[in-house]
Amino acid sequence: MKDLNYKQPRINPLAAERGKLIHTFGALAELGQEVSNRQGFHETIRTSLHLILGSLAIMRGGVARFSRFSHELNMVAGRGLGDNFPLSLALCYEDERQFLAAGLYPIENSQAKALPFFQVYDRSLEISRVELVLPLIMRGELLGAVFLGEKASGDRYTSHDKDVLCAMGRHIGVAIAQRNMLAELERKAEENHDLYENLKTTYKDTVRAFAAAIDRKDKYTEGHSVRVGKYAEAIASELGWNAEEIEGAAVAGYLHDVGKITVERKIINAPYRINAKESSELNKHPGVGFEILQPIHHPYADVPLAAKYHHERIDGRGYPDGLYDTDIPYIAKLVNVADSFDAMTTDRPYKRRRPANEVIDDMKRNAGKQFAPELVTAFFRGMLRELNGESPERRFRKLLGREYMETEGLSAMLQTTLNEMAPTSPLTYVSFD
Ligand SMILES: [Fe+2]
Ligand SMILES: [Fe+2]
Repeated sequence: MKDLNYKQPRINPLAAERGKLIHTFGALAELGQEVSNRQGFHETIRTSLHLILGSLAIMRGGVARFSRFSHELNMVAGRGLGDNFPLSLALCYEDERQFLAAGLYPIENSQAKALPFFQVYDRSLEISRVELVLPLIMRGELLGAVFLGEKASGDRYTSHDKDVLCAMGRHIGVAIAQRNMLAELERKAEENHDLYENLKTTYKDTVRAFAAAIDRKDKYTEGHSVRVGKYAEAIASELGWNAEEIEGAAVAGYLHDVGKITVERKIINAPYRINAKESSELNKHPGVGFEILQPIHHPYADVPLAAKYHHERIDGRGYPDGLYDTDIPYIAKLVNVADSFDAMTTDRPYKRRRPANEVIDDMKRNAGKQFAPELVTAFFRGMLRELNGESPERRFRKLLGREYMETEGLSAMLQTTLNEMAPTSPLTYVSFD
């Protein structure tokens, strides 16, 4: 017979409370871990929602992120809210004001009918059986909201439950704040990138305009600076330089003769070989160019040094300082090759352009004297590749004219010259199969 006096073992309320606390702390710790894990934002929010629902045995819920641009709560994760729950919920100024005033604390749907938000979404909240809305407020900023349905037990939310929800809400708030910060950083980085690109374009345009202005002064060698810029670019890309370095080489070429703007027009345009005095005047242009360019910040290459030393020779017989090989900045040696090539291949007041075979021969003979050999071979290689149809651009053809580039035997001559010029550094090694 059943002992009617048998007493059901009583659950110690203290032990139950302790169990609940341990459970809550466990869930909180897990949530904290979740937020600090470097996984995707959506995944973090989804897991956080499951942890909240699980820890208080809540039937359904969702998390939304607030967009301060569109003034909307956009759902990030949801469970059991049904397909009709809005993906995006608009907030009016009054809602935001009230949410911020109340701070991070759950609002009971049934008791918040005065707020426009709860009036507008009354039906949706009703259908999805949302009982609590927890605005996620941190440091006076609305970051999002958590929507929560009824508890599995059917009990009302206790104030203890609400405290737990606040603690958990804080973790989710941190996750959203982090995400916002990241988005803001990305936006700023993009903005900076755009600004930088704009600046670069402005710089390039200015440089080109400047180069054209320099060339205007020299009526016989019109377009000289622009062509030198393009040849310098060709050499740099043949050397395998990156896009910025190639641009730097081009700029150095465009601006190498900027010092000529202070040289008298009649000297520059003299239709005869200039005398010693005039020559010394003209020879000041590298130094003047350096002084003009030095105060300007150049984003890519050492443009001022290219201007200063583009008439130096590696055998030390150049000017203005008579520097030897390794003392000459590389960019200046590069511009020197481009500059000399253009001087030989354009008509001068007292001299007509020289035929291609003569120019190639001259450059080959002067490799190691005036020119750095690997720069000469890089130049030849670029020309040859274009002649062989191996490069998409036709820059040499555009600069030298079709006729010049179609000089009979030019390709074979370049090939032979390249084979003859022994590699002097790893840069020059190239195999032509
Ligand atoms: Fe020059
Ligand atoms: Fe020049």
